[in-house]
Amino acid sequence: MADNILSRTVSGVSNWVNERAPGLVPVYRKHVSEYYAPKNFNFWYYFGSLAMVILVNQIVTGIFLTMHFKPSAAEAFASVEYIMRDVEWGWLIRYMHSTGASLFFIVVYLHMFRGLMYGSYKKPRELVWILGMLIYLVLMAEAFMGYVLPWGQMSFWGAKVIISLFGAIPVIGNGLTEWIMGDYLPGDATLNRFFALHVIAMPLVLLLLVVLHLGALHEVGSNNPDGVEIKKGPKGNRWSPTAPTDGIPFHPYYTVKDLFGVCFLLTLAAFIIFFAPVFGGLFLEHDNFTEANRLVTPEHIKPVWYYTPYYAMLRVIPNKLGGVMVMFSAIAILFLVPWLDKAKVKSVRYRGPISKLMLGILVVCFVWLGVIGSGPGTAIWETWVGRVLTFLYFAFFITMPLWTKIDSTKQVPDRVTTHD
Ligand code: HEM
Repeated sequence: MADNILSRTVSGVSNWVNERAPGLVPVYRKHVSEYYAPKNFNFWYYFGSLAMVILVNQIVTGIFLTMHFKPSAAEAFASVEYIMRDVEWGWLIRYMHSTGASLFFIVVYLHMFRGLMYGSYKKPRELVWILGMLIYLVLMAEAFMGYVLPWGQMSFWGAKVIISLFGAIPVIGNGLTEWIMGDYLPGDATLNRFFALHVIAMPLVLLLLVVLHLGALHEVGSNNPDGVEIKKGPKGNRWSPTAPTDGIPFHPYYTVKDLFGVCFLLTLAAFIIFFAPVFGGLFLEHDNFTEANRLVTPEHIKPVWYYTPYYAMLRVIPNKLGGVMVMFSAIAILFLVPWLDKAKVKSVRYRGPISKLMLGILVVCFVWLGVIGSGPGTAIWETWVGRVLTFLYFAFFITMPLWTKIDSTKQVPDRVTTHD
């Protein structure tokens, strides 16, 4: 009886909407119920949807934080303490937001690594990759500005160090630094503009880029762990005579798979939020529990873990402009990957030992640089290790056209492979 009323109400509402906005159902079909994704997605295909879930978490918890946060240098730090101690569930909302930021980067790094492993950036998905890289850039700017807001010691000194990097640019450098800060040191003006950018401008850009990222992906269809183009394979499956045989509808198959991933993510997030929100100083740095003081410099100024590989590259180069150029090039070079990779096959599964070794070297370099970047950076031997790792990091990309060409390949199957 109740079922009957529910289904009649649902179909009544959907008919009502459909008569007035007939364009909506085709959009739902194209992107969800009739989006045919390869049937061999594995573990590595969780992270796109998880990134979307975290983005929503950041926006929702961010809205509630904004209700109680005071974006002024005089009040910001105290308002965060107020959120933590006096606002009902304020501590939970803040920890969900701060933990969400780190989880966002973990998920995005794994998502990018998947792309590198399976050659998901190769033709015809170059645009998906470029849009992904733009998301990555905006995300880094968004997290940086967010970190300045609580106006702790690391907010202030981190902002000072990073904004001062623009000072290395010849001629316009000093003017540019002053223009970004709106002052000679990070201050009220800086906090105010970072707040505006963090809560509205950057999230809007991020959302737009994510829509474009998925739009671009759905035009060409998803890649998969075999790197087989299912659209070029046989047609017809049990849902449609024209759909790729190796494709299954995104809903319900992948919505259910992704929900499992979301449950796992939420469980992990809950453990961190309830038992280790500071995460040994990795997710929230110890120095940031002290209010900003322009007269006291923290012993070690270092960014949050997700920037540390680039920060290490900056530090191991003795010249400031040189360091800044190396650091920005390390990110910029990722944009070029679709054109640097000359391999005939996409997935690492069908590539030879050189590609596997190079990918392994890249991961070791990135992680190790991250470790070096989060330390004090005073030991000479570490500086030299950092230089070698930076060199290897760039060598991966610069020599990519060569090693992807000479590496052996295995025969790619015509159809995707599954383990059932
Ligand atoms: C807010 C951040 C991001 C969100 C919400 C997001 C979302 C998604 C989603 C939902 C998918 C389809 C499902 C999947 O393949 O996992 C996807 C695919 C993809 N994303 Fe992202 N993404 C983000 C960042 C990035 C970044 C930073 C890159 C790389 C620079 C990237 C590169 C790709 C590629 C190449 C694909 C196609 C993968 C394939 O078909 O094998 N994405 N993304």
